[in-house]
Amino acid sequence: MVEPLGRSSREERELWMKEASYNLFNLSSDKVFVDLLTDSGTGAMSDRQWSALMMGDESYAGAASYFKMKQAISEILGFDYFLPTHQGRAAENVLFSVLIKEGDMIPGNAHFDTTKGHIEFRKAMAVDCTIDEALEPARYHPFKGNIDPGKLEDFLRLNPVERIPFIIITLTCNTSGGQPVSMQNIREVKSIADKYGIPLIFDAARFAENAYFIREREDGYADRPIRQIVREMFSYADAMTMSSKKDAIVNMGGFIAMRSHELFRHASVFNIMFEGYITYGGMSGRDMNALAQGLYEGTEYDYLDTRIRQVAYLGERLKHFGIQCQEPFGGHAIFVDARHFLPHVPREEYVAQTLAVELYIEGGVRGVEIGTLLADRDPVTRQNRYPALEFLRLAIPRRVYTNNHMEYTAIALANVFERREQISKGFRIVREAPIMRHFTVELERA
Ligand code: F0G
Repeated sequence: MVEPLGRSSREERELWMKEASYNLFNLSSDKVFVDLLTDSGTGAMSDRQWSALMMGDESYAGAASYFKMKQAISEILGFDYFLPTHQGRAAENVLFSVLIKEGDMIPGNAHFDTTKGHIEFRKAMAVDCTIDEALEPARYHPFKGNIDPGKLEDFLRLNPVERIPFIIITLTCNTSGGQPVSMQNIREVKSIADKYGIPLIFDAARFAENAYFIREREDGYADRPIRQIVREMFSYADAMTMSSKKDAIVNMGGFIAMRSHELFRHASVFNIMFEGYITYGGMSGRDMNALAQGLYEGTEYDYLDTRIRQVAYLGERLKHFGIQCQEPFGGHAIFVDARHFLPHVPREEYVAQTLAVELYIEGGVRGVEIGTLLADRDPVTRQNRYPALEFLRLAIPRRVYTNNHMEYTAIALANVFERREQISKGFRIVREAPIMRHFTVELERA
């Protein structure tokens, strides 16, 4: 599938940005030249996925498409039970409705914002146990998504086990830069979880990209097929949530998978209430077919190698211009260190958002802020939560752009970098939502 891209002038983009209250989510896509807002649901489906779509069985219960999806999940991920949901956060909503109660604490590696949102919405707390190396963009560590086993054990030792319904590992860790988690770390976390009798759950949106990095960077995995690595990763998990919009390369869809029949039965009640009957849960038959096919394609080595090298290509070009990014480069996106880029913009004026707006005005490239706006306010004090790092994320859709688009993006950002000394003011919030404010926030120039 090819789509037209619309060019625009700088004057037009300045006006459009103002009309959009300096929130890039408010821009209509025809005003964007290269759209790196997200890699979620923005991939191009393959010929095989489109043909699978035509074979969708739309029966309400027990559709053939459901069984196709079940088979793919069982073969690739090794889970016997699963529930389809319309996307990843819906999977979180259903599973957490069963597992989380008020006052609970859920340790993990830098929970994604919807995961954290669904935890905090239930008056529970997400506890970040990521390794400290993740906070130093220039420092090399092959697995910056890793959980620090010391931090995790300290936390478990000091808190009542009955308040900790599960430990969650996000693969790859989106928040720290699409950074992978090593097999050794997964194994270590699993053994700690077993020691305390706590289930281990994966937020598996980018599990295949994680497996690719294990193959590339971890001793003993260089010659292993991706699917074998994936099977080993999931062998340590009791359950998983999935946003299929990422590594299953579909435009919409998700699921929960689990080993326990009892958990499946409990979650089924919420699935029926929030999503749909247990054999379609928010997805049409044709979409389940495309998803099943996407799971096979998303775990092919050649595809992953091409994709992840394209992301690294953008990273290398930015590095060439002196722009600091989270390194090593992650699986789905390049995370630009915004405070390094714009040292004169005060943190209170949303540095990464300022950079995102500048890049759009410069070249019509849409990225996204992964910084203070995304971090929301502290649920108790209502003060801004300032994360350790302010990133501009440039997420690369799967099978969509050429390296020419990457080159264009790198040069647009390099142009901003050249005039960075003149950028000293950011933004003020005019209006914001009480939770997940970054999607709808309205801003004005400070
Ligand atoms: N978990 C992770 C790690 C994610 O990155 C996302 C979504 C979700 C869960 C939620 O899935 O969107 O299908 O409801 N990430 C997108 C992003 C939105 O741009 O990174 P969803």
